[in-house]
Amino acid sequence: MKNRRLLLEHVDVPGIDGIEVYVKHGGYASLEKALKKMSPEDVLEEVKKSGLRGRGGAGFPTGMKWSFLAKPEGVPRYLVCNADESEPGTFKDRYLMEKLPHLLIEGMILSSFALGANQSYIYIRGEFMYVLNILEKAIAEAYAKGYLGKNILGSGYDLDLVVTPGGGAYICGEETALLESLEGKRGNPRIKPPFPAVKGLWGCPTVVNNVESIAAVVPIVRDGGDAYAAIGIGRSTGTKLISACGNLARPGVYEIDLGLSVEEFIYGDDYCRGIANGKQLKACVPGGSSVPILPHFLVTKTATGEDRLMTYESLAEGGFSSGSMLGSGGFIIFDEDQCIVRNTWNFARFYAHESCGQCSPCREGTGWMEKVLSRIEHGQGHMHDIDLLADINKKIEGNTICPLGDAAAWPVAAAIHHFREEFEWHIKHPSEAQTRNYGLIQQPVVA
Ligand SMILES: Cc1cc2nc3c(=O)[nH]c(=O)nc-3n(C[C@H](O)[C@H](O)[C@H](O)COP(=O)(O)O)c2cc1C
Repeated sequence: MKNRRLLLEHVDVPGIDGIEVYVKHGGYASLEKALKKMSPEDVLEEVKKSGLRGRGGAGFPTGMKWSFLAKPEGVPRYLVCNADESEPGTFKDRYLMEKLPHLLIEGMILSSFALGANQSYIYIRGEFMYVLNILEKAIAEAYAKGYLGKNILGSGYDLDLVVTPGGGAYICGEETALLESLEGKRGNPRIKPPFPAVKGLWGCPTVVNNVESIAAVVPIVRDGGDAYAAIGIGRSTGTKLISACGNLARPGVYEIDLGLSVEEFIYGDDYCRGIANGKQLKACVPGGSSVPILPHFLVTKTATGEDRLMTYESLAEGGFSSGSMLGSGGFIIFDEDQCIVRNTWNFARFYAHESCGQCSPCREGTGWMEKVLSRIEHGQGHMHDIDLLADINKKIEGNTICPLGDAAAWPVAAAIHHFREEFEWHIKHPSEAQTRNYGLIQQPVVA
């Protein structure tokens, strides 16, 4: 299958969540290879060569992040897997952990080995309790087989792995808030620097990586970094899990080669098979609720008429005026019947609820945005509210300890930028806007 390559290849094999079936399908072969034939530095080198970029949203090169890890004598180092996955529209990590728990565990052991960590954690979103149970069962199996614990496969390398339920807040996915939460405190983001690579969990050097980033280390070690880097385009190498949702004929979790065209992903037979019920595409949020929305005419083509590709670079082409971001791979499609004002308000409501309250621009600003959007949506808006929203936006963006503020501001800014006429129509026709949607906006004619 085109859409199941490196990570999801065996996802439909019955019993693949159990160690026997996983091993039968090549599972733990990368671990055997690494522990018997490679040094930790070799594993790091392959990850660097692969060009793998963090799959949690920011796309920071994983090998580079690992090489920043401080190694003071006699101080423990930690690897923490970020499995908090709370970004609206993103559900690929949950799918991977639920279906292929041993892939993540094998990736954790390989990555911990490369980093010289002897104690590692999977911090999983608290609501995913059933997935936590799946992981715990799989971890027990891995201990029983000698893949975890003391002297793994006779290599002299020791590793303990613990799964911890998260604190029940979106902010706990931000890596420093996650570390606070893991230490048993309220999940408030820390001021950086110091970065976790120097001062992380319990003040010790720590790497925090996304579930998918860690799972990708398994095929990278098996096939070599160069083979991984041969998939994709430019600095977007390898495969990426995309959770596709909204008004698609075939929503779901897909593993795509980076570089696939957005057109093929939305309309191709191997992927989402077009917009549901024969409707027209109105807009797309390609990387989770935090990234800018794109109107239909900028989804499959960039503003300069190039094909839009599923890569970090192509999705960002045009900057904030005509581009977006690959983000976490939460690909949300809106058809012609969807209301952009209502959706923008819905996202804003989420961020206002989830702001941790530590920084006043975010604590106050997200609440104000939610209130202003709510009154526009409910027929009580004024024309000056649109500029007021833009003004609040500017006051949040870049003025907070963590990027949650930016994540709340960008979607509103982009929605107003592209769909201003829909916001204005809402304000001018309050009663009509309650019963019908605006439909498609027209592509601006460039003189
Ligand atoms: C508010 C907020 C929530 C986040 N939630 C997640 C999350 O659920 N999972 C994740 O991997 N990264 C999340 N991140 C990004 C992490 O801070 C961090 O960059 C990531 O875990 C690093 O892993 P990677 O380099 O493998 O992508 C979030 C960031 C912010 C600001």
